[in-house]
Order: sequence, then structure tokens, then C-alpha cells
Amino acid sequence: MNLTKLKKQVHLSGGQILDPLAKTITKKDILIENGKIKAFGNVKTSKSVQKIDCKGLIITHGFCDLHVHFREPGREDKETLESGSMAALAGGFTRVCVMPNTNPPIDSPEVIRYIVDRSEECPIYIHPIGAITKGQKGNELTEMGAMLAEGAVAFSDDGLPVTDSAMMRNALAYGTMFDIPIINHAEDLCLKQDGVMHEGIVSTNLGLPSSPDLTESNMVHRDLSLTLLTGGRLHVPHVSSSKSLDHIRLSKKSNDKVTAEVTPHHLFFTDNDLQGFDTNLKVAPPIRTISDQKALVEAVKDGTLDCIATDHAPHTIEEKESTFDLAPFGMIGLESCFGAVNKVLVKENNLNLLNLVQLLTTKPRDIMGFNNNLLDIGVHAELTVLDPKEEWIFSREDIQSKSKNSPFVGQNMYGRIKFTINKGHISKL
Ligand code: DOR
Repeated sequence: MNLTKLKKQVHLSGGQILDPLAKTITKKDILIENGKIKAFGNVKTSKSVQKIDCKGLIITHGFCDLHVHFREPGREDKETLESGSMAALAGGFTRVCVMPNTNPPIDSPEVIRYIVDRSEECPIYIHPIGAITKGQKGNELTEMGAMLAEGAVAFSDDGLPVTDSAMMRNALAYGTMFDIPIINHAEDLCLKQDGVMHEGIVSTNLGLPSSPDLTESNMVHRDLSLTLLTGGRLHVPHVSSSKSLDHIRLSKKSNDKVTAEVTPHHLFFTDNDLQGFDTNLKVAPPIRTISDQKALVEAVKDGTLDCIATDHAPHTIEEKESTFDLAPFGMIGLESCFGAVNKVLVKENNLNLLNLVQLLTTKPRDIMGFNNNLLDIGVHAELTVLDPKEEWIFSREDIQSKSKNSPFVGQNMYGRIKFTINKGHISKL
């Protein structure tokens, strides 16, 4: 991938602007000057202008992923804030929130400050999510107020659940003081035991240890009830099961403090795909059945699921090349996201492209309280340019992450990111 500084004047010509905020699609040029949007329409340009041909392409808000793992500090061999930024740009993402399960975890105002300072040097905007409990150990709340003051945008022990219900209650109650989302990785570890995949016919055939969908949905139900009790804001990450969706759908009828995300991999794959024992498909929560997958698509359409988040989780080849029961949970997902979700949701399930783009832009920004006014004169250009119809095969060469643990390699994709413009730079594949 090629990342270069924008010239003084840049002319995006011949493209269609898809504005997910105004809900419009219009054919218009854009002039960017000194990294900021200067004009729309028939823009006047000088000879020295950098012209970018966007004919047949869609120009829209830069994507925002509120759930990635960039492994810094501690496991820079898997991913750094810089390498994660490159993966993000390749996927059209200009802004991400990083999860705190690093080493040490992001559980103090000092580590939040470290991430905020380091991200200034990166070509995307990176917001830290602070840990709910100290050391992600589950028994003492972190200094949320002080961490928010340093730049934390939400709290989560992601990778691990908050098992203690009183702790989760306190986190939600404390969160009401700041109106920020509490994100709980819902997996009942007692029920999960040593399960490495979804419990069902496929796990029985493969002879792999498994855990049932209740592992997730019971804890989602608990969290939804605690949200009602406390008045706190709950964001449910990586929803994977139909049973969890039933609880979320019902809860949302009477509680506007609940939001939920879905990953591209839970939409794209089913447990049948695990028959080749590809450890890149080992994730937490696990890939589930065809009927769960169908329920996720329906839940995107009816608004039960608010946004798409990749849960980009880099791991080394050495770790992933071990046996299925020993390999770590997680897959990368930034680079393959758009081609995968556009295929499943737009091509195969008739979702409107505008709605899909909202799931990647305005919806996650709303949840995190980020600015959504990105197509306006004077704002810093934070834009993604994509071909909504390109058919292509995802390959290892498309990966910018330091890690290569993607089960999307070799898969047919529909729709492709062409350019990402952010922080005065343009990346081109
Ligand atoms: O599969 C996963 N991997 N799920 C998570 O929640 C954590 C992630 C990781 O950090 O590797």
C-alpha cells in the first residue's frame, strides 16, 4: 500500500458522494486544500492540483471501527499502532477504538495518555478504551474518571468477561456519571470451560471441545437486566447468537441505552467452515450455525444490531499454526471488512449500500460520541473512496497488518476500498 502526503490542492473528480448523515447520494466533485474540504460541485482548480479520478466510485465518510486490538504496548511483534493504522487505512477506516487487553493492560490514566500521545504520530485517529477492572482481573474497578480525563472513550475488559455481577453493576452505575458505553465481552467462562467452537452437530462430528450459545446469551441477558437496574449505557460487542439477539431486541423496546455490534466474520462464516480445522476461524465468541448467521443478517436489517466492528485480533503465525485447541482466539479483519460485509449484506441480502455505509460510519461514531459532520466545508478530510461492485479475491498481499491470521484469504469479495484520505495523507492500494 502506498501512503503519501496530500498535495496542497486535491481534486476528487467524477465520483458520487454518499453522505450517510444527510442520507443522500449525489454526483459531485470535491476540492481538498491543505487537508481540509474547500469546495463541492464544479470546483475550480489550478494546474498544480492533484487530480484523482473517482469515476464509478463512491466517496463517503472514513469508516470508524469501535473494536480493534492493536497489541501495543507489549506485543508489538503482532501489531503496533502504526501497523494497525496501515491495516485500517487499507480497509477504509480512518478512526478506531483500541481494546485494552494489551500487556500491560490499558487500565490506568498513564497508559491511556501513552496511547493518546502515540496515536498523534499515526495516520489514523486512535481512541483508547480503558479496562473496566484493574489488570482485567475482575475484582477492582479502574479509575474511570481519571482515565476519561486523559482520553478514554469507553470501558471494557474485552477478551475477558466481567464475571462478577456486582462489579458489572458498579461499572454500569459509575458509567452513568459520564454517559459512556460499558462494553462487556459476554461469555460465561464456567459454561465455556475448554470449548474452542460452537456446540452443535459440527463440533460433535469434528470431536472438538465446544460451548453452547447460552454461554453468550445468558451473560447478555444479565447485562441487559443490570443496564435497566442502573440506568447505565451498555454496548454489546461481537454478538454471535440468535438467542442473544432475542434478548437485545426485546430490551431495546424499553431501553434506549443499549447498542450492539456484529463482526464481518460472524456474518460471513458458519461453523461448517471449521471443517478444515483452520485455526484462523477460532474466535471468541465462536462462529455459529447457519440459522444464527441468518438471524444476524435479519438483526442488521431491523436495527437490533447498530453497527459493524471488526474485532481485528492479530496473532503470530507460530501461535496460529498450532492445533485447534491450543491456538489463541482471534482473527484480523480490517482489510477484508468492506468486501465481506458488502457481499453478505448488500449483494446477497439486498441491504441498501447507504445503510451499510451508516453501519460503518455514522452509527459507530454516534455510539462513541464522535463528530459525524464530515462532508462540510472547512472540515479535515476524513474520507473513504470505494468501488461498491468490484469482484475480487482477498489475498495475503492485501494484508497490511503485521499478523496474517485471516480466514478471508482466498474468499470472493464484493466491493473494494480504493483510497482512504485522512490526516493530510492519502493511501492507495
Ligand atoms: O477472538 C477474540 N480474540 N476475541 C476477543 O474478544 C479477544 C481477541 C483477542 O484479543 O485476541
